[in-house]
Amino acid sequence: MRFAGSHVLSVGQFERGDVEAVFAVADRMEPYANRHRITRVLEGAILGSMFFEPSTRTRVSFGSAFNLLGGEVRETTGIENSAIAKGESLYDTARVLSGYSDVVAMRHPSEGSVAEFAAASRVPVINGGDGSNEHPTQALLDLYTIRSELSSQQRGIDGLRIALVGDLRFGRTVHSLCKLLCLFERVSITLVSPAELRMPEPIVEALRESGHEVLESDAMEEGIAHVDIVYSTRLQEERFASPKEAALYRGRFRLNQQVYTRHCDPNTVIMHPLPRDSREPARELDDDLNDNPNLAIFRQTDNGVLVRMALFAMILDVADQVDEHSRDVRWYTGGRSR
Ligand code: CP
Repeated sequence: MRFAGSHVLSVGQFERGDVEAVFAVADRMEPYANRHRITRVLEGAILGSMFFEPSTRTRVSFGSAFNLLGGEVRETTGIENSAIAKGESLYDTARVLSGYSDVVAMRHPSEGSVAEFAAASRVPVINGGDGSNEHPTQALLDLYTIRSELSSQQRGIDGLRIALVGDLRFGRTVHSLCKLLCLFERVSITLVSPAELRMPEPIVEALRESGHEVLESDAMEEGIAHVDIVYSTRLQEERFASPKEAALYRGRFRLNQQVYTRHCDPNTVIMHPLPRDSREPARELDDDLNDNPNLAIFRQTDNGVLVRMALFAMILDVADQVDEHSRDVRWYTGGRSR
């Protein structure tokens, strides 16, 4: 695809070469994300950050990524703080906000809403999550992390063995990740969930049509054995009809150090898109894993900045000019090791 001027709405728009191109640019962003160098390549540009649903890392890392490229961020958070609460349409909102920005990053609770916004926008729009549909930049950063974690074992994404655990019905990050994995070869995927929270059938079919081996199970201990990656997910309570219904599944799958030691291979990498639910009834990824060197969750969040910087640089067509507009930083940058 041609990135310059394009929306990023779904991972379905990518070919394998596009994903590899994003990763190659993301690799080059490391000195800037690590504060070894500063670039002003997007000086004067404005990111419109429109998050109509709660977010910590996606919203802040989009903003940080844009700032690290030298641009400014204007944001609105929560439907209640925008004129949408007064009945303004997404069309009008998009026409207005795209007049104030060079690119927009948006999250919204309704599936398809970001695409609807993009259709009316005068500038490129990046989907930061639309309901339970997709979260394409999370999938890119997840796959970038998988690539990075496996590279230390001289392995690539082809031939990956991965277990996805938890709420696979409503979890948009796993939907997007599975679609992205369809671009790769010989992937073995174990989908661990309660029967009622299975991965949507069209996504399972797409994985199988790509030649991947897919196993569906409700037994976590068996599912996480002999895989390269265990990708745990939070119960998406906000998508359930009632808290009572969500409570039926809370705490069903809990990965902690004891379970890991007993069932996982010693170098199995642990991932989670975050937030993890650390409250006692849930704890799908226990805090007692925090000192496990294979816990990659904070390397994932760091990688989110690299991948989002790459996307901004490519969409605004400055990827080749980033270094040209750079210099060393002047402030203390110790203590930021990744
Ligand atoms: N992974 C993710 O989307 O996190 P936030 O909801 O904090 O943005």
